[in-house]
Amino acid sequence: MKAAERVKELCELLNEHAHRYYVLDDPFISDGEYDRLFHELLSLEDAYPNLIRADSPTRRVGGLPLDKFEQAKHRQPMLSLENGFTDEDLNEFSDKLKRFLTHQVTTGYSAEPKLDGLAVELVYQQGYLQQGSTRGDGFTGENITRQLRTINAIPLKLVGVAPELLEVRGEVYMKKDGLVELNKKQLQKGLQPFANPRNAAAGSLRQLDPAITAKRPLRFFAYGVSAPEATGCRTQTQLLEYLREQGFPVNRHNLFCPEMSNVIDHFKALAMLRHKLPYDIDGMVVKVDEFSLQDRLGNKSRAPRWAIARKFPATQSTTKLLDVEFQVGRTGAITPVAVLEPVEIDGATVSRATLHNQDEIKRKDLHVGDSVLVQRAGDVIPEVVKALTNLRTGSECQIAMPTHCPACNSLLTKPEGEAVTRCVNGVCPAQQLRTLAHYTSKAGLDIEGLGAKYIEQLFDLGMIQTIPDIYMLRHDLLKDLEGWGDKSADNVLAAIEQAKTPNLSQFLAALGIRFIGEISAQLLEQHFRSLATLQSADKEELLDIDGIGEQAAESLINYFQSEPVTLMLDKLHELGVNPAAAEVSATGLPLEGAVIVFTGTLLQLSRDEAKKLVKDCGGHIASSVTKKVTHVVAGEKAGSKLRKATDLGKIILSEAEFLSLTQGDSI
Ligand code: IVH
Repeated sequence: MKAAERVKELCELLNEHAHRYYVLDDPFISDGEYDRLFHELLSLEDAYPNLIRADSPTRRVGGLPLDKFEQAKHRQPMLSLENGFTDEDLNEFSDKLKRFLTHQVTTGYSAEPKLDGLAVELVYQQGYLQQGSTRGDGFTGENITRQLRTINAIPLKLVGVAPELLEVRGEVYMKKDGLVELNKKQLQKGLQPFANPRNAAAGSLRQLDPAITAKRPLRFFAYGVSAPEATGCRTQTQLLEYLREQGFPVNRHNLFCPEMSNVIDHFKALAMLRHKLPYDIDGMVVKVDEFSLQDRLGNKSRAPRWAIARKFPATQSTTKLLDVEFQVGRTGAITPVAVLEPVEIDGATVSRATLHNQDEIKRKDLHVGDSVLVQRAGDVIPEVVKALTNLRTGSECQIAMPTHCPACNSLLTKPEGEAVTRCVNGVCPAQQLRTLAHYTSKAGLDIEGLGAKYIEQLFDLGMIQTIPDIYMLRHDLLKDLEGWGDKSADNVLAAIEQAKTPNLSQFLAALGIRFIGEISAQLLEQHFRSLATLQSADKEELLDIDGIGEQAAESLINYFQSEPVTLMLDKLHELGVNPAAAEVSATGLPLEGAVIVFTGTLLQLSRDEAKKLVKDCGGHIASSVTKKVTHVVAGEKAGSKLRKATDLGKIILSEAEFLSLTQGDSI
């Protein structure tokens, strides 16, 4: 046989075997046999370089490492997906479709596992793989052609009749067992193990040297193309079949569902199957099956109207604990904060999580460098659940609580039996800064234009140190600061002027006295009606107020007895700051006496509008469901607060019911 013929035969044979192994998951020959054929081809190609074919499996790796990744523009943007978290979200999605497509009966859905890897685009011209890129910002990604060519599951040449141009989209991922093997090797080499298959896949693809990528066990599933018209397919289901025929691995759990109820059933099946699958999935993607309907529905700015991702609930993810920072709170409490390798949980990127206090770190046995399990539930702050101690390399370091304040260097105290380590320096700059930022924030006097960023700027410049300094800011000094100007200086000074006559309760909440939040401040205003009367109240009088407990009373007494505080309040008085109790309305406002918590997403109002409405209607806002709360307004995707409210028997309102209540209607 001629060398040319044998080269062609070997290429076809090896590609066929790779296809059987990586795509059909049904190998015919042993790994040893494959290697023998591969080496035969290599030596033939060595002897006759002019016979090397573009689809030769030996051409998957080669060339020198890159200096950097070039940019690669996508001809059609690579969109992302809207997320849904409940079956209700899916039903709403289908209702919306029906409304949008008026009277058109939908033709079913393609329900597909949402693969947890990296989206890539593969450009085939005249049937050959020419370019591969990451998604990037959706418009431009990175050219990783040479890295992608090393993935055996990606065909270098299409199998069927090829259109002129075919841009295939899909997910590069690593199987769970592949990660275990890879991590073993990483550890043997004294390198850091990867926290999860997704990070490992991303890290492997972003190697400038494709020879390294080639050694990583990466896989691929195709799920779409940029322009389906070129394929002659009418539906997504047909397209998936087409992609399979062209030689791509297509997930076997993709399912055509005639109705949304079938989609919901399939989601349940996938949720059961999830942990048995050899690769990670983080939900299901639901697509309108018919392309003509997809076209009619079109896209919003970042995501199509014809698809939704139904995510799995209560998600935990693994990532790396890179560092621990110690934050000084407004009241001097030192809080350790985990700095994490960014990881996506439930659609949000988590890069920091509170570690609460020293005892918590000890209990969870956390070390810097650990792989950690992180969880995020609904609107709750992300949390480190535990360290994955079996992934330790020995290079992890213990976390030591500081003995001195990271801001003012004074000795920290941790009273016996208490969990919190505290800086008790009354003039600690970190505490002062936080106090100032709280005073002007939305939770305080809500001084527009003086958000945390600007407060920090003025503080760093030494222009403000204590609250009275805010009222002494001068136009000529502000206007020339970086990021300011005449107009912003004018606006901020006007807002500060307005903040000279706050409601007493707002003022009390703005001071940031320990244990005095918005609700307690309201109770104090109702009872005392003036700052002077409150300042001279004794503990018994405070405790007499329903809703003011031992801790709050103690804290108030300590606060008003402290000399720096009296000096500050006197100074504020001198500067014309005059908090006053609100007029008691004769008519009675619709939400008088109500303490309201919002949870979930509101559709008609922003959170700020809703809060303002509550205040305007005489009600109070609380941030968590406590004894004092009377109503809970549940928006879309309401989470744990709704459950707690139901358990505690609070009145639960929909957004519409809340709105009619503010109109004075009874519900
Ligand atoms: S379709 C416009 N199908 O999910 C349609 N995406 O948030 C978008 N993904 O970046 C892509 N499995 O990485 C589609 N069966 C699937 C998918 C899938 C995983 C990922 C993909 C994309 C992200 C969208």
